[in-house]
Amino acid sequence: MTQVRRSKQLPFAAAAFAVVVAMVLVILAPAGDLAASPEGSPGARGVGDLYFPELGNGGYAVEHYRLDLTWGADERYLSGVTTIRAVTTQNLSRFNLDLVGMEVEAVTVDRRPAAFERAGRELVITPDQVIEQGQRFVTEVTYHGHPTPIRMGTDLFALGWQTRGREAYVVSEPGGAATFFPVNDHPSDKATFTVRVTAPNDQTVAANGRLARREEVGEGATAWTYEVRDPMASYLLQVAIGDYELVDGGTVEGVVLRHAFHRRWATEGRVATETTAAMIRFLAGVFGPYPFEAYGVLVVDDDLGFALETQTLTVMGRELVVQGRGADITLLHELAHQWFGNSVSVAGWNDIWLNEGFATYAEWIYQERSGGPTAAALAQQAAAEEGLNIPPGDPGRDELFAPSVYLRGGRTLQALRETVGDGAFFEILRTWVSERAGANGSTADFIALAEAISGQRLGDLFQSWLYNPTSP
Ligand code: ARG
Ligand code: ZN
Repeated sequence: MTQVRRSKQLPFAAAAFAVVVAMVLVILAPAGDLAASPEGSPGARGVGDLYFPELGNGGYAVEHYRLDLTWGADERYLSGVTTIRAVTTQNLSRFNLDLVGMEVEAVTVDRRPAAFERAGRELVITPDQVIEQGQRFVTEVTYHGHPTPIRMGTDLFALGWQTRGREAYVVSEPGGAATFFPVNDHPSDKATFTVRVTAPNDQTVAANGRLARREEVGEGATAWTYEVRDPMASYLLQVAIGDYELVDGGTVEGVVLRHAFHRRWATEGRVATETTAAMIRFLAGVFGPYPFEAYGVLVVDDDLGFALETQTLTVMGRELVVQGRGADITLLHELAHQWFGNSVSVAGWNDIWLNEGFATYAEWIYQERSGGPTAAALAQQAAAEEGLNIPPGDPGRDELFAPSVYLRGGRTLQALRETVGDGAFFEILRTWVSERAGANGSTADFIALAEAISGQRLGDLFQSWLYNPTSP
């Protein structure tokens, strides 16, 4: 699906000139050429992300991914067939998917064999004929291997498919999804997903969305099929395979609650997630309805060191779940990401404060409205932290998750609230979420919305809070 993104307007004179040139070319073209298949050109090898030029690809927009994965638990071996339905955005002679490691066996485009090459994280695919602009096409990639997490930026945590003994789970933000399936790996190209995983009968599979089917497929294996019906950014895909207990948490405001707790941490998982329904009710009251059909928490038997808001199924480590209700604020933060980050996704990774600053501010509102310190007081406390001279509106690829992105990002929203007043402030947040549900937004889009709703010029405020090297 395509992102909401601002395109630069051609000046009128240039546009008029282009129209005249195009008309002359049409007149000059020999009639015979018009019927022949069009000239195509290769899709770009990235979407133009300012921090990660290697992420994603141009020339098409994905509508749906179907992953059919088979987990060889004893060998820690993954084999897969990924089927991608996409629409071209140009006459396309060649296009890329992102894939790191893994052995590709075969690629087809519209069921016909297609040539392919590997170049770093690019899987370069040449169909046997040009695909015309605006046309829907289906690519199928068959592959296998031992998925290996990758390092990006200065993060110590290697991203993507995590193998632990016979078990596996996924932590990808920002670019690790390509470690286990071929993908247009950038949040600007969101799509729906079907995830089918075949695993040994003694293991349980959890993934985003809803479990649609579970079939015994013979040879001691069971296939689990999950459907993700709302558009999702690739970094939010979760696949967990292991000794999990699937726990039904009832429903809240029409949202199905279901969790996946590693059997070793099932008791702790129950305690830590006791407040999930109340938190959903709370955040829905502040930001508008919860944006997806389901929610829950995946507790893995590993020390993760952080939690990640994988869509509808936040992943948390055992080091966090042992804190019981002490994990409340972290879980509130990950839940807030379902609105800010997951339903409304960044246009580029330089917009990361739209995720982390907003989820941090949600923590402050939660504390303010549940008898704790006010958001203003919490913002003031945050001002004492180190490292706030990294500008949250442009932290750079190596500081994507720097404390400043969270804390100075949150303080930016406090400053906005104090400038426009509570009425306009909460209207801005609710409108942001409702207008861009299932899509994307950039920092410039957010500033424009804040100015439109408040009727104030806010350029200086955002400049000093988001971009100036020195924190206000
Ligand atoms: N979005 C995650 C959060 O809620 C970020 C986790 C940090 N990720 C990382 N690769 N260090 O805070
Ligand atoms: Zn976060």
